Amino acid sequence: MTTIMAEAENGVLPAKGRVLSVTSECVPLIKTGGLADVAGALPAALRAEGWDMRVLMPAYPGLKERFAALEPVWGEPDVMGGPAQVLAGRLEGIDFLMFDAPHLFDRAGSPYLGPDGLDHPDNAERFAALSWAAAAIARDGLSTGWKPDVIHAHDWQGGLAPVYARLQGLSVGTVVTIHNIAFQGLAPAEKMGALRLSWDAFHSGMFEYWGQISALKGGITAADRVTTVSPTYARELMRPEVGMGLQGVIADRGAAMTGILNGIDEIAWNPEADPGVLPYSTRQMKGKAANRDRLRADFGLGEVPGPLAVVVSRMSWQKGLDLLPQVLDGFVARGGGLAVLGAGDAEISAGLAAVAARHPGRVAVRTGYDEALPHRMFAGGDAVLVPSRFEPCGLTQMYGLRYGAVPVVSAVGGLADTVIDANKAALDAGCATGVVFTQVDRLGLAQALDRLVDLYAQPGVFRAIQRAGMKQDMGWRRSAAAYARLYEDIRA
Ligand code: ADP
Ligand code: GLC
Repeated sequence: MTTIMAEAENGVLPAKGRVLSVTSECVPLIKTGGLADVAGALPAALRAEGWDMRVLMPAYPGLKERFAALEPVWGEPDVMGGPAQVLAGRLEGIDFLMFDAPHLFDRAGSPYLGPDGLDHPDNAERFAALSWAAAAIARDGLSTGWKPDVIHAHDWQGGLAPVYARLQGLSVGTVVTIHNIAFQGLAPAEKMGALRLSWDAFHSGMFEYWGQISALKGGITAADRVTTVSPTYARELMRPEVGMGLQGVIADRGAAMTGILNGIDEIAWNPEADPGVLPYSTRQMKGKAANRDRLRADFGLGEVPGPLAVVVSRMSWQKGLDLLPQVLDGFVARGGGLAVLGAGDAEISAGLAAVAARHPGRVAVRTGYDEALPHRMFAGGDAVLVPSRFEPCGLTQMYGLRYGAVPVVSAVGGLADTVIDANKAALDAGCATGVVFTQVDRLGLAQALDRLVDLYAQPGVFRAIQRAGMKQDMGWRRSAAAYARLYEDIRA
């Protein structure tokens, strides 16, 4: 990848065009979920396709200090209540444009929540300002002369960028990617003025949503194209039980709406070369057993005669983890063990902690956020559990596949698109990679865990499932090519 990047900079690869990616989080700077992984992976993936992508994101506290050099490239004296500038800098191969608006972003808390755990009251203004800057850059360019042919906005936080571009009649292609329909960026209509939106656009064909402003709906209706992060989620979004009120608007976009599956960073997530784990591969699986022992030690687990499963997840209703306490007694009785790393909903973690207290040595829960531990968990785990109620794409099942931690997943969204159920036919054909279940409730999950235990009891069969998953292509190449084709279609 380094060679490709160097070549692109030397002008060897054709510069097909310029893309401004607009996101609220991005690896390696800040991450609360998979969006950050994806936003951080796209620039290199698209560079290989000949597209020059820059990442516009807020300069949250402490981020500017991570750069060796930052250069002011854009500014306005008043963006939603205060001065703002954009600082350009390079970090780990990514060209960042840091949106520096202290009145909106220089404060304690996470990107979206205050220290009290509640949404920042001016979240609408904060991300409208980011989107405003994106449109201004598309209109005027940076002081360096760089100007995007395409704005690629992510989720509701970037949703107003295509709206401003449309309202200002800018000549720039726009695409919005839905990573999660559950977050819509709603704001009361009284904020119309503060968000610099015009009342003649306040109608159901634009960003009006039941009398409120929806930044996500704005993006969906105003952008040239809409994508989401898996083909199955693209179809599910048109159904009322998943679309959260936006199903009709999304269906109306017809062929302008597509699903492009996320990839994973196959360099950072590679059991053969991961510095955090004892190396192993499909040819040499011994290292995996050593990682399993290490994982048990990490989590204070004793002998686990059956499959040792892991969970690495936000704790939220979406992820279905509240179902686990209802089925774990049965799983443990059949020899299973579980190590959980998660942060979020206190009730869900309390439920899991109660199970851990009932089964010391077999179930352990770690709450909090840890960058390194997931690598050791996928390397040491026999299985990864992702019983989501909905899942736009999901990355942890892919990390599991890559590390031979067999995914046990519900048949929704990207989970359905990345895991092949180990039924008899798939096993005979040699393509099975996990356990897929359709009924996301206690019974469905309990049966899925029973199947996992049965498969694990047949070492030859289980090994074949692990190997098939580890060999699966989950890199960005195919999806980057799909984004590149899309940019080509809509570019200014
Ligand atoms: P979502 O974005 O809905 O949370 P994804 O599966 O797409 O779900 O991405 C989650 C990402 O966050 C993965 O990279 C996963 O490893 C990581 N992650 C989730 N919880 C934690 C945690 N507690 N500590 C470290 N990483 C976590
Ligand atoms: C969202 C979704 C998750 C997806 C991620 C990256 O956070 O919940 O399924 O993998 O975005 O696209």
